[in-house]
Amino acid sequence: VRKNHTPQYVLQWQRWWNRWWVEHRIRPQFDSLGQYPAVHSPWSLQISGEKIIAGDFLHLISHRNKPVCLTTWRSKQQQGEITIGNYCLISPGVQITSAERISIGDNSMLAAEVVISDSDWHGIYNRVRPFRCSAPVTIHNNVWIGLRAIIGKGLSIGENSIVGAGSVVTNDVPANVIVAGNPARVVKNLNPKRRMLKREFLFQNGDEYWQKQHSIENIFAGNNSTVQWLRKHLFPDNKD
Ligand SMILES: CC(C)(COP(=O)(O)OP(=O)(O)OC[C@H]1O[C@@H](n2cnc3c(N)ncnc32)[C@H](O)[C@@H]1OP(=O)(O)O)[C@@H](O)C(=O)NCCC(=O)NCCS
Repeated sequence: VRKNHTPQYVLQWQRWWNRWWVEHRIRPQFDSLGQYPAVHSPWSLQISGEKIIAGDFLHLISHRNKPVCLTTWRSKQQQGEITIGNYCLISPGVQITSAERISIGDNSMLAAEVVISDSDWHGIYNRVRPFRCSAPVTIHNNVWIGLRAIIGKGLSIGENSIVGAGSVVTNDVPANVIVAGNPARVVKNLNPKRRMLKREFLFQNGDEYWQKQHSIENIFAGNNSTVQWLRKHLFPDNKD
């Protein structure tokens, strides 16, 4: 798609429909969901199970081809739980699956197709049950997990740390480091004294950030006409 021909009034309707879906179809699936959630393609989001909690300013980008999946399982022993802090970013294809407890701190960012699980789901000698193979995962504040990284059971990722793309994390990660590779090892240290711009910076004035984004979209859509929009759907050409 070279140009978005959607007219302003359709964009506004799409935003209204998105908000309606988030408030009436997505919010009830969380035990608690904070203020100002921004969910792209909320109809593709797959939420299953109880005890799924998210804070304010959740930015969740789902897509029909790469849905975000948040799943908690209930067993005889325990109920899984997923807790996501304030100002977190969750990208397309992220899968978070909990048998026990996964907590993600404020300002954390999960890149596309990150996988987090707090269980192996089968015991090493008991292949028919998830026997003694679950342990909580704790991702502290302001952690950035790169594209397609995998975080397994019982791990903790320290504040501000970064997990490189494609890493398989098998040991705890301390605060203020970059880990990468399989198995992930420390490749760099971060300077904790340096000022760090966190996602919360974007949302200092409530949802003003989103209002600005929408006004930019409206400016781009300023000259879009219904006729061109319909033509693009029916008879697209190489300028579309
Ligand atoms: C983690 C990351 C941010 C670090 O970037 P950086 O500070 O520029 O890192 P460098 O390139 O200096 O790499 C440092 C070392 O770690 C290694 N390394 C870095 N990323 C790696 C990775 N993902 N897997 C394996 N090794 C990696 C480098 O080869 C280098 O090793 P060397 O010192 O032996 O040469 C970056 O490598 C990365 O993974 N980016 C992807 C981010 C992402 O997923 N974004 C999606 C949008 S949210």
